[in-house]
Amino acid sequence: MRVLSGIQPSGRPHLGNYFGALRQYVSLQEGNDCFYFIASYHALTAVQDAKLLREYTLGVAVDFLALGLDPAKSALFAQQDVPEVTELAWILSCVTPMGLLERAVSYKDKVAQGLNPNHGLFAYPVLQAADILIYLSDLVPVGQDQKQHLEITRDIANKFNQQFGEIFVLPEPYILDTSAVVPGIDGRKMSKSYGNEIGIFEEGSLLKRKVMSIVTDSTPVSEPKDPYTSTPFLLLRLLATPEETAEWEARYKAGGMGYGEVKKRLLELIEEHFAPFRARRRELEADLDYVKDVLREGGRRARTVAQSVMERVREATGLPTSYSPGG
Ligand code: ADP
Ligand code: TRP
Repeated sequence: MRVLSGIQPSGRPHLGNYFGALRQYVSLQEGNDCFYFIASYHALTAVQDAKLLREYTLGVAVDFLALGLDPAKSALFAQQDVPEVTELAWILSCVTPMGLLERAVSYKDKVAQGLNPNHGLFAYPVLQAADILIYLSDLVPVGQDQKQHLEITRDIANKFNQQFGEIFVLPEPYILDTSAVVPGIDGRKMSKSYGNEIGIFEEGSLLKRKVMSIVTDSTPVSEPKDPYTSTPFLLLRLLATPEETAEWEARYKAGGMGYGEVKKRLLELIEEHFAPFRARRRELEADLDYVKDVLREGGRRARTVAQSVMERVREATGLPTSYSPGG
């Protein structure tokens, strides 16, 4: 199966990105044909500083490799290494009803938060559709917040296929129930834009301070508590074995357990789980030439696929280039 996903280089990745998306990127590598990319054109809607965008882009590549993406199994690349996606985005724009984009929740949210939107932000889902469709992707691992973008992608693919012939595959989202929406320190969805995140590569006193400051309710220690509305438990179950999770669930329900205890255990689990990734990240940071080579090779692989699909798209839409075969 062709698997594809991308993450914006707009900051450092957090536990929401990891459990919602990146962990699935790694597990799907076995037995699938995977394409994972750094959504730099998307990030340009917000990050408009060349030096910063370059740094973040390379940073995400390092993160990908540190977390276990294997360039022998997956193509890892930067979005700008396949400029054909912007060409496809334009063609798809021409079959995308305005209303479809006006209903996009993530756009509406940003505007509601007071952001003065640029056209790139409005057209963002069309570029995302191009990213997915240009590789004829079957499966897209993402968190719940991207579900609507996948629906928009399917709508756009359908419109194109009806108008110009069946070229595009209708992709399915791959969203895991337990990690569809990972909560942040304040209990809302963990997100860079809320400033409530715990970074994957954070450690030491900063990590401890963040875990200990997770917001909990004021139920007295002696009282029974609901684990499924409690952020420390919801995070712990992502890392603990099913047996340990069941034990904590029972302790919540029995009463007599303080939130400090569960936070302490959560901190240990985070430390244990991510320590090898942090060590690997440090090694990779000392060898950025290797990381750049991986991106170059991944970009070449991805571009080959994109170019052959674009030949078909140009032909189907009556836009063959004068230098293409039969043009
Ligand atoms: P952010 O909201 O912090 O800007 P991104 O938009 O860069 O995160 O998300 C990258 C990927 O991580 C997407 O697939 C997204 O669905 C997933 N993701 C982000 N935050 C969460 C979360 N709190 N829970 C589950 N998945 C998430
Ligand atoms: N919109 C996604 C996010 O914010 C990033 C993204 C861009 C993406 N293109 C994609 C995700 C294609 C999956 C497939 O997280």
